Formats: sequence, structure tokens, C-alpha cells
Amino acid sequence: MSDDDRVEEFKQYVRGGGTIEPTDWMPDEYRQRLLRFVEMHANSEIMGALPERDWILRAPSLKRKLVLTAKIQDEVGHAQLLYRIAEDLGKPREQMFDDLVNGRTKFHNVFHYPTKTWADAGVIGWLVDAAAILSQSALLRTSYGPYARTMKRVCWEEAFHLKQGEDICLTLAGGSELQRSMLQEAINRWWEPLMMFHGPPTPPETDADLAWRIKTKPNDELRQEFLDRYVPQIREMGLTVPDPIVQKDPAAGRWAYSEPDWSKLYAVVSGSGPASAQRLGFRRLSYEEGAWVRNALTGRSLAAA
Ligand SMILES: [Fe+2]
Ligand SMILES: [Fe+2]
Repeated sequence: MSDDDRVEEFKQYVRGGGTIEPTDWMPDEYRQRLLRFVEMHANSEIMGALPERDWILRAPSLKRKLVLTAKIQDEVGHAQLLYRIAEDLGKPREQMFDDLVNGRTKFHNVFHYPTKTWADAGVIGWLVDAAAILSQSALLRTSYGPYARTMKRVCWEEAFHLKQGEDICLTLAGGSELQRSMLQEAINRWWEPLMMFHGPPTPPETDADLAWRIKTKPNDELRQEFLDRYVPQIREMGLTVPDPIVQKDPAAGRWAYSEPDWSKLYAVVSGSGPASAQRLGFRRLSYEEGAWVRNALTGRSLAAA
């Protein structure tokens, strides 16, 4: 069988629902795309711990501090699981951290924005995690076995994150006028990043990650699912969506929304977001300060001594 035939057979297999394991043969393009996808996911989990970390000390009660701390620990745990998958695909963990803190690889757009009030902790836990659950649930059917199995645990934990965020938002929505306006202001600020979250609408036939069944749903389908579930819930809370054209067309079964400026999304994920430099600076500092732990665990400090 020629190399081209073998690649074609592999493509047919994954498109037909077949699962690939780490020891299986895989085409170079599949391995590279999968690695890039999983690495960005891992980067997003570890960087996603930072916006909410700012609120552990400022959470309004001991219960809120404990729950938020547990949620953040989960996110760091997700990063560890995903970096392990990426390592198995051939990229050393040290290299992945080095690339992340030096801006050579990306992380998700929503983690490049500052958090201004306690309502942000609610909106991140509820709506950002909701958007993430939709993507991650679709990844339960990814063609790479270890990734699909990891998503089972991740999705289970994300469901708890969503509940804790929703609980913060419900409390604020049912509180004083000041609390309600703080929540509305946070939703207004997060709406654009949320509309960008799943990426630009891309024709499925031109999306190579779909062709290899690394991901299983097109970007705009995920955004439509998000609008379907959460616009009614936001309105039920007595809040508004800050985009006057958001409305479902019953005939088409689709939501209208203002098209985000996709060049802005690209600039944000390339490190020009309002909090990109600060977040990467903090991650770099943690990485440098944790060097002695990594050296102790790998025995490098002993070798040096
Ligand atoms: Fe997560
Ligand atoms: Fe989460």
C-alpha cells in the first residue's frame, strides 16, 4: 500500500468513527494538528486559572472562597491531564511551558481579559465554562482515544464549575440594585469575548481539524448551541444581552447575532489582549519560582550537585 493510500485509509477510518490510540500508526499531519489542538487546550486550562485566582482572597464568604479554590484546582488538574496527552504525542512538557510563557503558543481568548468585579467570577464560572462545556462535550467523540477519555472526567468537573458560577449569578440577580447592575455590567463586558469563544464560522469542508475528527462540531454550530441555551436563561434572570439583534429566527432555527470583528480575536490570542502581558508575566514568574520543585522531582538538582 502506498503512503497516500495509507493516509486515505486512516482518514476514512477516523471519519467513520474509528478511535486512534497512542501506539497506533498515525499520519504526521494528524499528529501535528492533534498536538497543536491539545496543547492549546492545556495552555487554556492553566491560564484560565489566573483570572479567577484574583478573586479567591476577595470572595465574599468562606463558602465562596472554598468553592472557587476547588474550581481553580480542577482547572489546573485539567491542564496536567492535557499536557500528559500532548507529551505522549511527542512534545516535551518543558518545551510546552517555555513556548507558552514566551508567547510562541496560544491560549483561549477569554483568558486575555481582566476581571473587574466579583460578578466576573460568576460570569466566568457560568457562561465561560458553559461555552467550554459545549466544546468539550463535542470532544467526547474526538478520534483520539486518550483525549476522548480525558474529556469524560473534565466534562464532569466542568458541570460543577457551571453550577458554582450560576449560583453566584443567581445570588447577584436576586440581590440589591447594586448587585444586579454589577452582574449586568459584567455580562455586557464578557459578551463579545463569549461570541468570539468558538471562533469564526468556518465552512466544515475547509476545517482540517473536523476532517481528521480531532473536533466534531463546526464553530458556528457550537455558538448557536450556546445562544440556544443561555440567552433564554440570561433573560429569565431579568438581565439583557448587550446585542440588540440577538434573536432566534424560528423559520431558520438559528440565532442572529452581531458578527464579531474576527481580526480582534486574532490580535487577542496573539498576545494583544487587555490582560495578555500581565497573565503571561505571572505565569512566567510561577514557572521560574517552581523550577526548584521540578528539578527536585526529576533529580536534576542531585545531578548538578
Ligand atoms: Fe477546565
Ligand atoms: Fe471549568
